[in-house]
Amino acid sequence: MKNKVLIVFALIVTTILLIGCSSSGSNSSANSQIILQAQSIYSSMTESEKIGQLIMPSYLLLAQSPPASITACTNDLQTPNPSAALINQDCGLAQIGQYHLGAVLTGGGPYLNAPTVTNWAQLNAWATASHARNGGWPQNDPLLLTGCDATHLNMHVQGAVMGPQDIGLGATHDLQLVDQVEQLAAQDALTTGFNWIYMPTIAQVQDLRWGRTYEGFSSDPTLLKSLAAAYIEGLQIIQGGRITGVLATAKHFLGDGGTQYGLDEGNDNFTGTMAQFWTANGQGYEAAVRANVGSIMVSYSAINGDNSRMHFGGVGSWDIINTFKNQGITDTDGQNYQFLGFMVSDWNGSTRAAYFYDQANPTEPPLTLPQIYAKSINAGIDMLMVGQGDSTNPLDPSSPPNFSTVGEVVQAVTEAYATGLISETRLHDAVMRILEVKLSMNPKSAPLSNYSQLQAQERAVALQLAKESLILLKNNNATLPLTPSTIKNVVFIGDTDDLGVQNGGWTINWQGQEGSQYFTGVDQISSGAMTLESGIIAALGDNVNYYHVNPTENDMPLNLNAESTVAISIVAEIPYAEYMGDIGNPNEPDVWYNMGAANGDNLYESLPQNQFLGLQFDPTESSAIQNLRSNGVKIITVVYSGRPMVIGQNLDGNPLSPMSNSDAVIAAFLPGTTGGTAITDAIFGNYLFTSGADGQSNTLPFKWPRDMLDVTTHFALGNLFDVGYGLSD
Ligand code: GLC
Repeated sequence: MKNKVLIVFALIVTTILLIGCSSSGSNSSANSQIILQAQSIYSSMTESEKIGQLIMPSYLLLAQSPPASITACTNDLQTPNPSAALINQDCGLAQIGQYHLGAVLTGGGPYLNAPTVTNWAQLNAWATASHARNGGWPQNDPLLLTGCDATHLNMHVQGAVMGPQDIGLGATHDLQLVDQVEQLAAQDALTTGFNWIYMPTIAQVQDLRWGRTYEGFSSDPTLLKSLAAAYIEGLQIIQGGRITGVLATAKHFLGDGGTQYGLDEGNDNFTGTMAQFWTANGQGYEAAVRANVGSIMVSYSAINGDNSRMHFGGVGSWDIINTFKNQGITDTDGQNYQFLGFMVSDWNGSTRAAYFYDQANPTEPPLTLPQIYAKSINAGIDMLMVGQGDSTNPLDPSSPPNFSTVGEVVQAVTEAYATGLISETRLHDAVMRILEVKLSMNPKSAPLSNYSQLQAQERAVALQLAKESLILLKNNNATLPLTPSTIKNVVFIGDTDDLGVQNGGWTINWQGQEGSQYFTGVDQISSGAMTLESGIIAALGDNVNYYHVNPTENDMPLNLNAESTVAISIVAEIPYAEYMGDIGNPNEPDVWYNMGAANGDNLYESLPQNQFLGLQFDPTESSAIQNLRSNGVKIITVVYSGRPMVIGQNLDGNPLSPMSNSDAVIAAFLPGTTGGTAITDAIFGNYLFTSGADGQSNTLPFKWPRDMLDVTTHFALGNLFDVGYGLSD
């Protein structure tokens, strides 16, 4: 049956444009209408208008190009109704018309220090107005794409609801609810003026040391594919052959999760054919193409060395990006998958690739900026994402930049075209793909006035997903669920009151942050933010004694009574994103390095887990736990992490080991703002584990390692728990 279904799918693939995989006449005529419209626009464009479609700057790059300034732009966003002329100048938005730019983005951060929903909606509205007003452009350009990374709902916005990160969605196995939450994410993004979300990450994660593991759904290809499809369909909301939600992006193509040692932006050592590489890394792209994803983002990584960086096309003989776009890639089952949307680079991905390429070719003169962009565009990248903070050596942010303004990038691409490094045929293909996607978009944005209603829906769905994302790893003697009426004393151990830790990276700011500073007052209410500590107190009320034990506090009386006391502890990773979350491995210390550590980045090196993919109790916490356990008090431990962590180092007898010193252990991954409520409901039995989607919720999407040797697929010495594990109560 599989082959038969796939053969039908393969036929559908060749007819998919981007507006529905239907063979019905209506859509195919819509397809041809779109192609004709795009061709008409293209033929009326000037050369600079065509080139402007290939370049997408970040807002901060625009704002750092004189006479604009980030400070002035930020101040404008803080003052009521500044004039459009002022914004055009201060935020550099006039450059959108000046260079005929067809897209802008906000990257991971830092932001313009103005992350409210009104500020984002205002900034995107000004950009769109500038796109419509400056220089007579865009009679032809159908849409200004405004991109963002809503990795767990619209995480840029202060006060927004933030759902579980992707690894938690994997644990839910709930396709319907994932589709629903991404429809809400699309509406939230559109309300704030974003019509493009660079999600989902559909990496096949092969090493838990990778700092982006939590952006992956699962190591199970079937689960990965079904969630990728649900996520993309939820975001794009294709109706009547049009994308009425936001443009989605499957990323990062290809092999981002397969690098040696899990090194972010590293190298996939791969001996085998392109079909075999596709099977090991491309499963999600089969589902993404089937779901009509409109864009795909290219991976920073390389395949077999720095002469084969993906942003320069990967392995030369494979020409894998162009093959995927023009002929389709045939997998080891003989099925062909072709992508007809447009390829976007990652953030300064071309100039990063150039650094490693130059290092690998020391006898050649360093590539010039026109040569760099020509290599990427000829490798099949249709749009260049360029942001502030570029540096000629990506491992040394203090090295000189390749460019400081978007004008320099425009000039380089113009020169590459003028000197024939980029052909007219290639320019035509890239611009046509972008125009066809834009023409297939008809985003229906909800007005700001409906935002609070939308957030109420988001809170409900995010909470249910958070509950279904929890994994009960251990529950000795049916410790859980607890009976509230029997509890007179609660000892909170560890960081039990920190929303930043509960959300992880990509939360307000790129790296996220510890603390709950972004979730206070009205923002706490609108986001449904609840820490575990607040959740427990809300459930038990004021007639209970609450004590705290952590590295800086210990007010717990000794010898508390076992019958009326419970200890609730948290062990957690510090928030991180991308390479800042990579973990070394004592087994390969000589090859371990990290973009963050190589930068001498204090934040990274101070992380307790920077060498060990594990979590342990702090000695202060451990001695309190030993006292409690000697009195027979039950210990419940919750793990907040972006991935399975070694928590049972030397299982028996290690007083620092969360696993061996707890009666019950819940893996919560990064459950989002409603996580505290979800875990409280699970602890008191108001939510029963595996009571979610068809009984598969609350089960592990990745293996859980026993120790560091188990961390990678290379050392399968017997995990602590396999994929699919999860206790029910
Ligand atoms: C980052 C990430 C990518 C993200 C992009 C824009 O470096 O690699 O996933 O979408 O830049 O923020």
